[in-house]
Amino acid sequence: MSDPLDDLLPRFSRAIGMAFGTEHAVVDPVLRRSAQATFGDYQANGAMALGKALDRSPREVATAIVGHLDLDGVAEPPEVAGPGFINIRLLPAYLGAKATELAGDDRLGVRPAATAETVVVDYSQPNVAKEMHVGHLRSTIIGDAIVRVLEFLGHRVIRQNHLGDWGTNFGMLIEHLGDLGEDEAAAELSLGDLEAFYQQAKAKFDADPAFAERARSRVVALQGGDPTTLAHWQLLIDLSTRYFSTVYELLGVRLTDDDIAGESFYNPMLADVADDLVDKGLAVVDEGALCVFPPGFAGRDGKPFPLMVRKSDGGFGYDATDLAALRYRVSALGADRIIYVVDARQSQHFALLFKAGEMAGWLGDARRAEHVAFGAVLGPDGRPFKTRAGGTVKLVALLREAIERAEAVVADRGELDEATRSEVARQVGVGAIKYADLSNDRAKDYVFDLDRMLAMDGNTGPYLQYAHVRTRSLARRAAEQGVTPATSAPVVVTEPAERALVLQLLALEVVVHSTAETLQPHRLTTYLFELASAFTTFFDQCPVLRADTPEQRASRLALTDLTGRTLRLGLGLLGIEAPERM
Ligand code: ARG
Repeated sequence: MSDPLDDLLPRFSRAIGMAFGTEHAVVDPVLRRSAQATFGDYQANGAMALGKALDRSPREVATAIVGHLDLDGVAEPPEVAGPGFINIRLLPAYLGAKATELAGDDRLGVRPAATAETVVVDYSQPNVAKEMHVGHLRSTIIGDAIVRVLEFLGHRVIRQNHLGDWGTNFGMLIEHLGDLGEDEAAAELSLGDLEAFYQQAKAKFDADPAFAERARSRVVALQGGDPTTLAHWQLLIDLSTRYFSTVYELLGVRLTDDDIAGESFYNPMLADVADDLVDKGLAVVDEGALCVFPPGFAGRDGKPFPLMVRKSDGGFGYDATDLAALRYRVSALGADRIIYVVDARQSQHFALLFKAGEMAGWLGDARRAEHVAFGAVLGPDGRPFKTRAGGTVKLVALLREAIERAEAVVADRGELDEATRSEVARQVGVGAIKYADLSNDRAKDYVFDLDRMLAMDGNTGPYLQYAHVRTRSLARRAAEQGVTPATSAPVVVTEPAERALVLQLLALEVVVHSTAETLQPHRLTTYLFELASAFTTFFDQCPVLRADTPEQRASRLALTDLTGRTLRLGLGLLGIEAPERM
């Protein structure tokens, strides 16, 4: 709706059809935003390819298109430049009308997706009785942003927290819990000290053969459904999820206990999935284990690489659980699209899984699975993030530190009372961490650097939040001076800074849709950063409250308001709050 391409493209098709015959009207004019304002607002490069196809010079082709191009009411008469580029400069009146229309739309021009899909998003996935580490932080933050973007576009999103709540580790964990006694263990775990609990169990397991033996028989008891063992297992889960919930709350992510479908959830389906794969002729016994060998995957020794359906000891593991989860998501949840937000180190696992899913007929056609892979979080030394003692960095500790430092940033500005200050500090601190994570190309590693994340300038969360705050304080000042902030005032575009700001505002729809398509949140952060920068320039160059005429003032206030709403919406889609003051 807001995208000027919607107006430009049909006009190009018509011109191309008129110039070269209707069979060419479908040719892509390759219209893009211009890299530089001197080349106009948009540039069409399609004459190159069309020239080749028609065996005519691109310049000649471009000139012929321009001869038929009717851009009345949209753009100035187009120009042919260089070897055959067509430069388009939109009319100020057109831009003003588009911006006015945008301001009157709650969705700020972003239409819902043409077809609403059922999308399963598998994210966060911490492990029971283990600390959430920075990898889980990334999965949680990226997954939450993806969920928000997809929901905004009208998709039905089913969140699945694939909790690590099953496996042979639970033998030693339950034994350790028994040794401590329920109350003692509960006290320890409710402090959120999951790592210490896990390490103690592991140390005993490694050092004490009798304990290791007990742990192994405990696994058998767990699998056999022994009531006391199950009760202790459930206690571990309850205590852990209670702790995870506090982290989710602090982070402000949309995950609740209802979204948990842990590994154990699939236990009752595993044998049937194995049978299914055997029936389909996909699973074969190899050295006693039941395996699927999707073609095209080889291990280091050159031998084909398997997905393990059933281990040689008869047990099921991580691979089997994921096969069952995939089938369940397709058949029971009715997923059109399944998104796994997991560390890049598991890429091979998911490639194997998706291939197997295709072979089994669970995936294919319109039903697709995607691994949203992300890189590692590095410490200041550029190496995987660890505590000085070499342990796991506690996620909550990072969040608390960010909030504390944000408090200092906010206090420095001295504008807020005590209570507001701590609320804003939380929004700024948590927002800074989220923004830093989301603004990196997710496939890449990044260095965890709180100073940089909290900086008030540059491509940071606080900078964007502050740009939003500036739009709000301008509105407050206007109100103080008795100027009614008119959201619906007609936008008049005269200055270059206004023009640049409007063009950026109109681009939101395209960015949100491409973020949903590629599942790359950094597209949205880049957009928002550019928007904030365009607003800063506008703010410097175009007096708002002291504009020349009441019409101009109203127009600039409307643009300011629209910018603020766009920043708020965009940050919201990333799971980042936009305070009114800071
Ligand atoms: N719990 C796993 C881990 O911490 C990640 C699970 C990812 N999701 C999945 N369906 N395999 O590494």
